[in-house]
Amino acid sequence: MTFLVTQLRRFRVPALWLGISLLLSGPVVAQSVAERIQLCQACHGQDGNSLIPNIPSLAGQPEFFLLNQLVLIREGVRPIAAMQEVVKGLKDADIQAIAAHFAGLPAKAGDEKTDPALVTQGAELAPGLECISCHKPDLTGQQQMPRLARQRLDYLIMALKSFRDGTRSGADPLMVGAVLGRSDAELIALAHYAASK
Ligand code: HEC
Ligand code: HEC
Repeated sequence: MTFLVTQLRRFRVPALWLGISLLLSGPVVAQSVAERIQLCQACHGQDGNSLIPNIPSLAGQPEFFLLNQLVLIREGVRPIAAMQEVVKGLKDADIQAIAAHFAGLPAKAGDEKTDPALVTQGAELAPGLECISCHKPDLTGQQQMPRLARQRLDYLIMALKSFRDGTRSGADPLMVGAVLGRSDAELIALAHYAASK
């Protein structure tokens, strides 16, 4: 398993996808996947768009991002106390099916208000900090890099601070590097910009 996690961190290995696909099997999996998805919906929203503060939306995330994070969460590399029970015993095949499910749902804008002045400030900061070269200019994400567009504003702020402060366990070092030394005000502006997209 450690091997798989290591490979997942090196997302550029295309053979990984093939390897995981080959591990997939069986109708029993489909049953348990449906049950698991119901559990996920309680926190992440019926349609994958979260209505709960500080819980991220999963709808429209790149499939590989979801798969990668779910492996990290299951393995305790990114421990999430609230999710400990629901990821217990998840097979790789389950994770792939769950990732595909949420990746396929449309991301909807939430009801949190963004501040136009902060949106502008964030938009000016983002290119210099390389945010858009990894998360894409429209911030919809790619590969192991998450969609930021239409993500919950409160979650974006919390996540950005946790990367900067080194409190997000298992965080990608390049992501940490992108926000290292940034002020709260700058991170909040970046979050408003991202949530507004
Ligand atoms: C009891 C509430 C709860 C349940 C149930 C739950 N989650 Fe979560 N999940 C969270 C919280 C809270 C976070 C964010 C933790 C953090 O970043 O500090 C999270 C984060 C995630 C992330 C990381 C997303 C990101 O943008 O970084 C993924 C992926 C995820 N959950 C998938 C799932 C799946 C799939 C299920 C069902 C098998 C599930 N969750 C069930 C509360 C829950
Ligand atoms: C070198 C590529 C790279 C750069 C540059 C980068 N990111 Fe990221 N970002 C990532 C990756 C990869 C992740 C997934 C987190 C992980 O794997 O630990 C991520 C995660 C995030 C998250 C967490 C979202 C979630 O749903 O969990 C936010 C918010 C974020 N980035 C915002 C930004 C902002 C704002 C910038 C510019 C200041 C930026 N990123 C620059 C690669 C990058």
